[in-house]
Amino acid sequence: MISIHPARIAIEACGLVAVLASVAIAQVPRDVVDIDYDKHKFISLEGCKKCHIEPGTYANTDVTDRVYLTEWKTWSEQDKHSEAYLVLSDERGRRMGELLRKDVKAESTGCIQCHTPNAIRTRWDANCLQNAAIKEDCLSTGVDCQACHGPAADWVGPHQLGDWWKKTARQKADLGFRPVHDPLFRAEMCLSCHVGNPSENKVITHEMYAAGHPPLSGFELESFADKMPRHWRQSYEKPKATPTYERTRNMLVANVVSLRFALELASADVAANQDGQHWPELARLECYACHHDLRLPSWRQSRSTAGRVGRPQLNLGCEPLVRVAARVVLDEVGKQAADALLARVQTEIFAENVFGSPQAISRLAPVVRQWCLDLEAKLLATPFTTAKIVDVLDEVYQAADQQLKDYDTARQLTGAIVIICDELALVDTTRATPQRVADRLGKLRTGFNLHVDMKARVEETLKQSLQRRAGFKPEVFARLISSLEKYPRD
Ligand code: HEC
Ligand code: HEC
Ligand code: HEC
Ligand code: HEC
Ligand code: HEC
Repeated sequence: MISIHPARIAIEACGLVAVLASVAIAQVPRDVVDIDYDKHKFISLEGCKKCHIEPGTYANTDVTDRVYLTEWKTWSEQDKHSEAYLVLSDERGRRMGELLRKDVKAESTGCIQCHTPNAIRTRWDANCLQNAAIKEDCLSTGVDCQACHGPAADWVGPHQLGDWWKKTARQKADLGFRPVHDPLFRAEMCLSCHVGNPSENKVITHEMYAAGHPPLSGFELESFADKMPRHWRQSYEKPKATPTYERTRNMLVANVVSLRFALELASADVAANQDGQHWPELARLECYACHHDLRLPSWRQSRSTAGRVGRPQLNLGCEPLVRVAARVVLDEVGKQAADALLARVQTEIFAENVFGSPQAISRLAPVVRQWCLDLEAKLLATPFTTAKIVDVLDEVYQAADQQLKDYDTARQLTGAIVIICDELALVDTTRATPQRVADRLGKLRTGFNLHVDMKARVEETLKQSLQRRAGFKPEVFARLISSLEKYPRD
C-alpha cells in the first residue's frame, strides 16, 4: 500500500507538482569496488552495535538527518539477513548437509560465501583471530553489516567523524567501504548473493537445489529492499536533503546487472566443466521447463517461443525488464540491436545443444557483458523525468502482456510496477492513478510474497510459494495487468 509521504506534502507545498527531479548520476569509477580482503579485514560486529542501535547523543542533530543510527535494531529484529548463518544449522540446512554429504559451514562447500561471508577466517582481523571471547561473534552474524558495507577494520574509526560523509566513493573504498549508495554497485552487491557471482565464489548449483535449497529467483532489487526492510532513507525521505527520484531507474539498472550476472554464471559453468562431467548446470535453466506436470490446456504450448520447442531456456526473470530499459533509453538503432541480442540469447544457446551449448555461451557472454555495461551507463546518464517514468510504466504493461510469463518473471514485473507507482505517487497529487493501481496490485503482491515476515519459517513459506508457482496461471496474470489503469498523459 502506498502511504502519503511527508516528502510529497513538501513537494506540493513548493508547487512542484508532477515533475520528478531526477538527475543524471555521476558514476563511481568501476575499479573502486573490488574489495581486497587481504588488505581490509572484518572486525567483530559488536563494534557496530554500540553506535547503530539508537541515536543517543546524536538524536536530533544533522547526523540523524543523514542516518537513522537504529540500523542494528532493524537488522536484528526484522531483517532475515541476520539469521542467514543460523539457518545453516536449522532443520533444512542440516538435511541439506546430509544429502550433499558435506559440512555446510565449510568454506569449500560454498554456502557461507552467501550466508555469512565474514565466517571466512582468512578475512578476520587479529582481534577476531586471537580473542577467544569474541570469536563466536565474528563467526555467527549471518549476512551482517560488513557483508554489505565492506570489511570495517580500516574505516570503522574514520567513518564516525564529521567529514566522512563528504568523502568521495573512491576515498571511502580505499579503506574497504563498499559504495552502496551508488545504484550500480548496490545492485552488484545484492545480486552477488541473490543471483550469484562466480568471482566471489557465490554460486548456487542444482545439487544444492535438489538437496532442498529454496529457488533463488524473481529478485527485483528495489521492492526486495523495501521487503528487507530498508534501514536507510531515500533522499526524498530525508530532512534537509535535496530530493531526487531514482527508484524506477535503479530498478531497471538492477535488472540489467541481473542479466550480466546470469551470463557470467553460465560462462563460469563452462569454465568449471573442463573435465566434461559437469554439463549442463541445471541451476542456470528455467526450473519449470523440467519441473512441471503435463496438462491440457497447456499455456506452454500456446506461448510463442523464440527458440525451438521442447528445449529449456536460461532462467532469466529479468529479461522483460531489460527490454524495457533498452526501449526507454536507447535510440531506434539501439532498440533494434537490443531485440536482436536478446533474441540471440534466447535462441542461439539452445539451438546448438538441447541443454545449452558451452561454445555459444562462451561466444555470447562477452558480447552481452559489454552491452549490459553500456546500457547501465546509459541508464545512469539519462534523467528520469515524470514523463520518462510513465514511459517505463507503459512499457512494463506491454511486456507483461506480450508474452506469457512464468511465475518468477511475473513476480519481477509486479515488483517493478509497485516501485514505479510508489514513485509516481510522490508527485501525483491530483490524480489517484498510482494509488488505484497499487490497490489492485495489493492481492498480487501477497500472492508473490513481496512482504517478508521474519518469523515465518522457510518450511511454511516454501511450501506455499512452491504451490503458487505450480498453480500459476500466466493468462490470469496477463489479464490482470492489461486491466490496470494507464497513467494519463497531459
Ligand atoms: C563510535 C560509533 C560508531 C561505531 C562503532 C560504528 N559507527 Fe557507523 N556511523 C556512526 C556515525 C555517527 C555515523 C554517521 C556519520 C555522519 O554522517 O556524520 C555512521 C555512519 C555509518 C554508515 C553510513 C556511512 C556512509 O558513508 O554512508 C555506515 C554504512 C555505517 N556507519 C556502518 C557501520 C558499521 C558496519 C559499523 C561496524 C563495523 C559501524 N558503522 C560502527 C557511528 C559509529
Ligand atoms: C549464491 C548464494 C547462495 C548460496 C551459494 C547458498 N545460498 Fe542459501 N540462500 C541464499 C539466498 C539469497 C536465500 C534466500 C532466498 C529467498 O528467499 O529469496 C537462501 C536461503 C537459504 C535457506 C532458507 C533460509 C530460511 O529462511 O529458512 C537455507 C536453509 C539455505 N539457504 C541453506 C544453504 C546451504 C546449506 C547452502 C550450501 C549448500 C546454501 N544455502 C548456498 C543464497 C545462497
Ligand atoms: C543486505 C545488505 C545490508 C546489510 C546487511 C546492512 N546494510 Fe546498511 N545499507 C545497505 C544499503 C544498500 C544501504 C544504502 C542504500 C542507499 O544509499 O541507497 C545501506 C545504508 C546504510 C546506512 C546509511 C543510511 C542512509 O540513510 O544513508 C547506514 C548507517 C547503514 N546502512 C548501517 C548498517 C549497519 C549498522 C548494519 C548492520 C546492523 C547494516 N547497515 C547492514 C545494505 C545493507
Ligand atoms: C552476502 C550475501 C547477500 C547479500 C549481499 C544480500 N543478500 Fe539478501 N539474502 C541473503 C541470504 C543468505 C538470505 C536468506 C536469509 C534467511 O532466510 O535466513 C537473504 C534474504 C533476503 C530477503 C528475504 C527473502 C525472503 O523472501 O525471505 C530479502 C528481501 C533480501 N535478502 C534482500 C536483499 C537486498 C535488497 C540486498 C541488497 C541491498 C541483499 N538482499 C543483499 C544473502 C544476501
Ligand atoms: C533440464 C531439466 C531440469 C531443470 C532445468 C531443473 N531441474 Fe531440478 N531436477 C531435474 C532432475 C532430472 C532431477 C532429479 C529428479 C528426481 O530426483 O526425481 C531434479 C531434481 C530436483 C529437485 C529434487 C527433487 C524434487 O522434485 O523435489 C529439486 C528441488 C529441483 N530439482 C529443483 C530445481 C530448481 C530450483 C531448478 C531451477 C533453478 C531446477 N531444478 C532446474 C531436472 C531439472
